Amino acid sequence: MSWTPASWRDRPAQQLPAYPDPHALEMAESCLEASAQLASVTENRALSAKLAEVAEGRGFLLQGGDCAETFAEFGADKVRRSFNLLLQMAAMLRTASSGEVVKVARMAGQFGKPRSAPTETVNNITLPAYRGDIVNGPDFDLKSRTPDPLRMLEAHRQSKVTIDLLKAYSAAAYADLSEIHRAARRRLGLGFEHATPQGDIAQPAEIFTSHEALLLNYEQALTRWDELTESWWATSAHMIWIGERTRQLDGAHVAYASGIANTIGVKCGPTLEPDELLRLIERLDPENRPGRLVLIGRFGAAHAPRRLPLLMRATREAGSRAIWSADPMHGNTVGTAGGRKTRALPDIITEIVTFFQVAAAEGVHGGGIHLEMTGEEVTECLGGRSGLREEDLGRRYLTHCDPRLNSGQALDVASEITRLIRHHGRREADAA
Ligand code: PEP
Ligand code: CO
Repeated sequence: MSWTPASWRDRPAQQLPAYPDPHALEMAESCLEASAQLASVTENRALSAKLAEVAEGRGFLLQGGDCAETFAEFGADKVRRSFNLLLQMAAMLRTASSGEVVKVARMAGQFGKPRSAPTETVNNITLPAYRGDIVNGPDFDLKSRTPDPLRMLEAHRQSKVTIDLLKAYSAAAYADLSEIHRAARRRLGLGFEHATPQGDIAQPAEIFTSHEALLLNYEQALTRWDELTESWWATSAHMIWIGERTRQLDGAHVAYASGIANTIGVKCGPTLEPDELLRLIERLDPENRPGRLVLIGRFGAAHAPRRLPLLMRATREAGSRAIWSADPMHGNTVGTAGGRKTRALPDIITEIVTFFQVAAAEGVHGGGIHLEMTGEEVTECLGGRSGLREEDLGRRYLTHCDPRLNSGQALDVASEITRLIRHHGRREADAA
């Protein structure tokens, strides 16, 4: 039977909310079906073409943003600060990368969160878990925690505003791109031998959007048929990814992603076996099309040295052209004595170092990075230039979900990645 945007409904689905009112759900879905697309097919194809270059070993994918966007903490300044941070990091990476640094924001749609338990119990009261603002509210009361389909419409509206802001900031930053690149060289202590190629600053910075394709009701309603390419496209974002908890080969999320033409990410964690990964690749990228698939390793600093070589070797031997990227955040989350979740910069850096070392040893292009970060001055992760310690976390711990790098920490990480790309790039060139 041929694929349709609704095919996922016949498959076992993890992590989807139980909406109590099916009529309201249908109404919200039809409303979305008639709504504006958030990413055009032309833009989606442009992203895939850029990532095809990365897949061939030229360039780098920089993907980052909030763990989860929220309705409460939305604002033009917040979007601008995260946008500026992405541009600054990209300019640093560009001094070492052999090709374009492709910027993909975890923004304008990153509203759904997978949870380890479906319910939460406080003082003997059990309520549905908070699944992100697109599903329900964080407050611990029955009304807030009941999944409300109208939230999908609000998420769509906020995403549209975010995309319009990103486009406006791209146009405005155009005038400053040379200065942003000069500042990146200063930050890295580099001279003019690393000057940015003219082509990179001759047009507005292009920035793409992405989120985890978790809430399939929302994704289905924003899937559109394109006559020109004779394909189905997700128009909720340019790139979507499948999370660590929903990548079952026969599950609903893989079924959905298999039928759309966009670039797809797949989170690869420590329990993923090489043969399972190869079957996922066969299912999601049967034509082995460069730019189609991004494998996002998220093992944790302790597991990466054992798990990553097995998986990278398997994809290389199978001849897959999928891009390998590193998410050094999700495998390095730890609890503090104070009951907060945090991540330490040394662990994050260790996993990144392992990623580049293993890639070099396995003859694979270390093609990208996936970070949870914000331009806001939060205190959620430990370490970095300001030496944040556990006792500092309370000052500005704002996340409802996972701890994010603040801008100083994100720039520290970008500087380390720049060093690693240069180091391994030179070794590749020496070996050639
Ligand atoms: C995330 O990216 O926010 C996330 C939940 O990641 P993972 O699926 O890798 O746990
Ligand atoms: Co997260």
